[in-house]
Amino acid sequence: MRNMNKKSADTTLAIWIPAAAAAIYPWILEAFHWSVTPATSDHSGTQLSTIAILTASLLLMAAFAVPLMNLMIASRPQHTAALTAANVRARRFALLAVTAPTLYVFFGVLTYIAGSKVPDQWIWSPAWLVFGYVASRSTDAVMPQHTRTSAHLRVVHGICGALAALYVVFHIANHLFGLISPEAHAAVMDIGRTVYRAKLIEPLLVAVMLFQIASGLRLVWTWSVASSDRYQMFQIASGVFLSIFILGHMNSVFIYARTWLNIPTDWAFATGLPSGLIHDSWNIRLLPHYALGVFFVLAHLCSGLRVVMLAHGVKVPLANRCWWTGVLLSILISVAIICGMTGLRLA
Ligand code: HEM
Repeated sequence: MRNMNKKSADTTLAIWIPAAAAAIYPWILEAFHWSVTPATSDHSGTQLSTIAILTASLLLMAAFAVPLMNLMIASRPQHTAALTAANVRARRFALLAVTAPTLYVFFGVLTYIAGSKVPDQWIWSPAWLVFGYVASRSTDAVMPQHTRTSAHLRVVHGICGALAALYVVFHIANHLFGLISPEAHAAVMDIGRTVYRAKLIEPLLVAVMLFQIASGLRLVWTWSVASSDRYQMFQIASGVFLSIFILGHMNSVFIYARTWLNIPTDWAFATGLPSGLIHDSWNIRLLPHYALGVFFVLAHLCSGLRVVMLAHGVKVPLANRCWWTGVLLSILISVAIICGMTGLRLA
């Protein structure tokens, strides 16, 4: 009985911690904005104090800690035999909370288009607490044994993923050119556009992205019940993040920018010029969104590669080493792109 109570308290915490972390997320960004905004109204050339830089760095780390912590909660080992509906719901809830940085951007674009006058965080934070409350009220019924995902769907998701990767690798390499100059970024994008914006290819690219979201979420639904190891949970969590990221990103590019504002989707659009990513209270949410988008898409591809390697008889330690190398490279590429987007130039 005491064990049951402990288990149920664990599950409740596994919902309330991600809910609270996601609810607090916009306030961390708000505090970051406050810490990088000098007291004077003239911001040009104003140097930030060491304390302000230190505070801002800690707050940025706290913003990244939100999805990281939720990822760790979602990855807690589960014992399949005694798995209850509450365990599964807690895990799925933590997976959703991993997406907070990208969901907050998507949400912000939608409220902006809808003309909402209420600051986003005033809707966002209570909404997460309500979600947490609803999720924590699920029953303790024992889950039916794990039903396996269709092998066919996994293969098709992998093949389409490889197709999508052709675009994604180009797109990410394109963003690295921002480290040289916005002009270099634009020149490479112009070359790429002749291919990915071609009449037949662009709809195909969008269709592949939408298929990856739908098929990926279907796989996540089944795998989130299974007692997965941490590598599998990372693959699942990065896939959930990407589903929201890609949907929100395509909404920003195709609907918000190209259709609603009728502006070009260029360097200025991506980096939130003229105010940039760091000093604007809205744009700062784009920084973790872009950084994690790049990191998760590359690391998700590494996870897929690891599965393929294992299926082809590669030894587990070697496959894991390749995965770790890929993940470290993904972090470096993500940091490099964000440095370019926030003004660092190599020359
Ligand atoms: C630093 C991160 C990123 C930034 C700043 C960014 C920015 C942009 C911009 C400016 C465009 C418009 C391109 C154009 O007009 O030709 C675009 C399009 C797009 N991006 Fe990204 N992106 C990022 C990461 C990603 C990632 C990780 C993915 C995939 C998971 C992705 C998927 C797409 C797709 C599917 C399009 C539509 C392509 C089209 O115009 O047909 N982006 N992005």
